[in-house]
Amino acid sequence: MPRSIRSTHEVAISSRSGWPFGYTRIMVTRRSNALKITLASCAIFWSSRLSNCCSSITPPTDSSALRRTSFISRPFCSRAHNIVDLMKNARKNLSRLSASEERRFVTEIRRSVRKGANFSDLVEEFEGQWAHDPHWKGWLLQELRRGARAESFEAHHHHEAKHKDTVVASQIFTPAWVADALATHCLEHVDAVRATCLDPCCGAGQMLFAWVRAKVSSGASVEDAVLSVRGVDLDPEAVALCREALAGMIRAEDKVVSAQIQAALHENIKVADGLEGAPKCDVVLMNPPYMGLRSMDEGMRARVKEHGEFGVDLYSAFIDHAQRQATAVVGVLAPQTIWFTQRFERARRSLLNDWHLDQFLHLGSGLFPGLNGEKSSAAAFVLSRTSSGTTEFYDLRSGKGEDKEARYESCQSARRSVEAFDEIPGAPLAHWLKDEEIALFSKYPALEEFFEVPGSQNKTGDNARFVRPVTEVFDELVPVWGLDGGNPEGRYRYYSKGGPYCPWWGNWDWAVDFSDEAKAFYRTNRTSNLMDESYLERNGLCYTDFGGRRFSARFMPKGVVFDMAGPAIFSRKDDDDELFALLVYLNSDLANRLLVAMNPSLHFQVRDVRALPVPPLTAEMARRGRSKVLSLSGAAQTYP
Ligand SMILES: C[S@@+](CC[C@H](N)C(=O)[O-])C[C@H]1O[C@@H](n2cnc3c(N)ncnc32)[C@H](O)[C@@H]1O
Repeated sequence: MPRSIRSTHEVAISSRSGWPFGYTRIMVTRRSNALKITLASCAIFWSSRLSNCCSSITPPTDSSALRRTSFISRPFCSRAHNIVDLMKNARKNLSRLSASEERRFVTEIRRSVRKGANFSDLVEEFEGQWAHDPHWKGWLLQELRRGARAESFEAHHHHEAKHKDTVVASQIFTPAWVADALATHCLEHVDAVRATCLDPCCGAGQMLFAWVRAKVSSGASVEDAVLSVRGVDLDPEAVALCREALAGMIRAEDKVVSAQIQAALHENIKVADGLEGAPKCDVVLMNPPYMGLRSMDEGMRARVKEHGEFGVDLYSAFIDHAQRQATAVVGVLAPQTIWFTQRFERARRSLLNDWHLDQFLHLGSGLFPGLNGEKSSAAAFVLSRTSSGTTEFYDLRSGKGEDKEARYESCQSARRSVEAFDEIPGAPLAHWLKDEEIALFSKYPALEEFFEVPGSQNKTGDNARFVRPVTEVFDELVPVWGLDGGNPEGRYRYYSKGGPYCPWWGNWDWAVDFSDEAKAFYRTNRTSNLMDESYLERNGLCYTDFGGRRFSARFMPKGVVFDMAGPAIFSRKDDDDELFALLVYLNSDLANRLLVAMNPSLHFQVRDVRALPVPPLTAEMARRGRSKVLSLSGAAQTYP
């Protein structure tokens, strides 16, 4: 099959009334986003006329024709869906669940697990319904271990040893459509017939099944496709399920699993440590286990740290190892942090130096059924040794798995050169920024040139003892401009400690004990910090560190104490007009976009605020900022 053709399909064509015209061959091309249909000697290209006759195209129903119809793992344009969906429904072998079916399935399993079902109950319950998906028992395993995983995460929260079990903690399997996306893209870079594929943490086999589907779609026999995979995992039960399901893919094609194939499956899919015992292959496809250094035991931490700039998390150590195991291409689903945060800056620079980033699916949160929250924010990417040029970026951050799948299938991508992001401090892959926005980083000075952002804030080390709502301690609270207090000599001071989105002025809900005894404690206690008291003499701005992707800054009158959740900014010239003008800029959409680009986690780090490019601040901005603050504080008359 020519390289430009992704897969071919034979389907029956009938009239609207069901009268059969015969069979035709459908070719799905690789790059053209086109579905090409030949009927007898005439070629009909996808057109509005053809889309009208779509309902007249039905899949063949007899089994020999079905066998000739190869399954397409990913349609190339949305208009092709009708045909492909028809084929998917008619043909269950080598098939898989869509994102919405996976979500439904996982919810149903969860319900049964809650009622006390064990593995064999679940198999009995779901066999008829879902067994056409090779990974279906993997989902059963994932859900049966959900309780243990929750305990493990809880242990992690309390820094307990229980979390050290990477198998339980990391068994959150890949949605099939993401595995298919990675596998089909990786296959484009290698000899589709001969290439081999390794998953060094294969779990129940989701990535490997996608590889088999992609190979079969490219013309390989299912046996050859199955024999081209290698997998290792620490979990014997997952390994057993993976072998069984790979054999099942052969049976689903009405073929026999010979003793030779059985033996090869035992040899190729093994229980082993993926950071040690995995063989070299053309392609590595993986969704590696995630675990921070703090959660590991000494031995594992030392091994992970051996991976240099990649020794930051277990998943990045796997990525480093994959670089050596893959001779041509690496396809990974991992937390997005490696492409964005400062901790991984050296690792991502090294990856971009040694590989070409070919495709980048920015999946964000909401990908995994039943797992929400920013911590699960993910990206899937393909690194190749052979390609060059721009990278194809898919921005799939919003919505749940099924929305992401639909948007991926309708090809909503943009091509960018990764070098463009070098201009952003830390070089995060902020692909959603326009070129003009990225240019601002070199055009304008960084905020820290004119403003001071102290890196050392106040930390009580025991908020339950030292921090109170202002209403409780009003009689002992020192007043400041715009904010009342009952005693100028009192022991409590207003405390900037973040709070909800609140631009210009506000969030003055907390007071901190700033008596001599309390300060002595902050100075000497190991987990506390006493801020530099000279800042109490200066007006400034403060902002919410934990911003949920919406930055908000406020005016902070002199006399207020600030902690790490509500860091402060001061004018180097102690010029209030400069502060008011900066406040207008900080509360603008542009500043928010640039700050989120520097670090798309939920925290706005001091480092990022210091590096924010600041366009010229004008007298008009100062006037607007001042008027907002004075009117919202209700203390315009008393402003000095
Ligand atoms: C996130 S799951 C991914 C599984 C599968 N590849 C997928 O994509 O669905 C991570 C897998 O890594 C396995 N694992 C954890 N530590 C490992 C290690 N050191 N070596 C090999 N596998 C490991 C876990 O048992 C788990 O099955």
